[in-house]
Amino acid sequence: MNILIINGPNMNFLGQREPDVYGHQSYNDLVNTLLSYGETKKIGIEVYQSNHEGEIIDLIQNNYQRFNGLIINPAAFTHYSYAIHDCIKSITIPTVEVHLSNIKEREPFRRISVIKPACIAQVYAKGFNSYIEAIELLQKEINTYDH
Ligand code: DQA
Repeated sequence: MNILIINGPNMNFLGQREPDVYGHQSYNDLVNTLLSYGETKKIGIEVYQSNHEGEIIDLIQNNYQRFNGLIINPAAFTHYSYAIHDCIKSITIPTVEVHLSNIKEREPFRRISVIKPACIAQVYAKGFNSYIEAIELLQKEINTYDH
């Protein structure tokens, strides 16, 4: 099983951006956590980050065929990118949306996700564990429906 993980704008600043909200661990810590989880569970994992909407779409379009599932933290694009929504709807692998923070209990604009309707699930407020939970959800989905 292979899972593609894509992180949106400002995720590369983890550790230094709003540590009260996102914690003190760096983006490299996140990537290393995900890669070692993948190794332990024998899941092939590739992780990408981009600050650019079009680049995120290119990453998905150019790579999804090599993977059984997609995990995306669209960061601020969550709240307004219909282009990423359309991109997720146009691929044939299941997608889970993740967030480190509790988007339901912050500024009102964060409560809305235009990405969620294109995904099989949304996981938030669990820090790095949001991603781990998303991997587990995808595993179940992929094993059940043989994507
Ligand atoms: C985020 C939440 C978004 O609202 C925000 O724009 C981010 C990070 C999260 O992981 O909690 O950049 O996606």
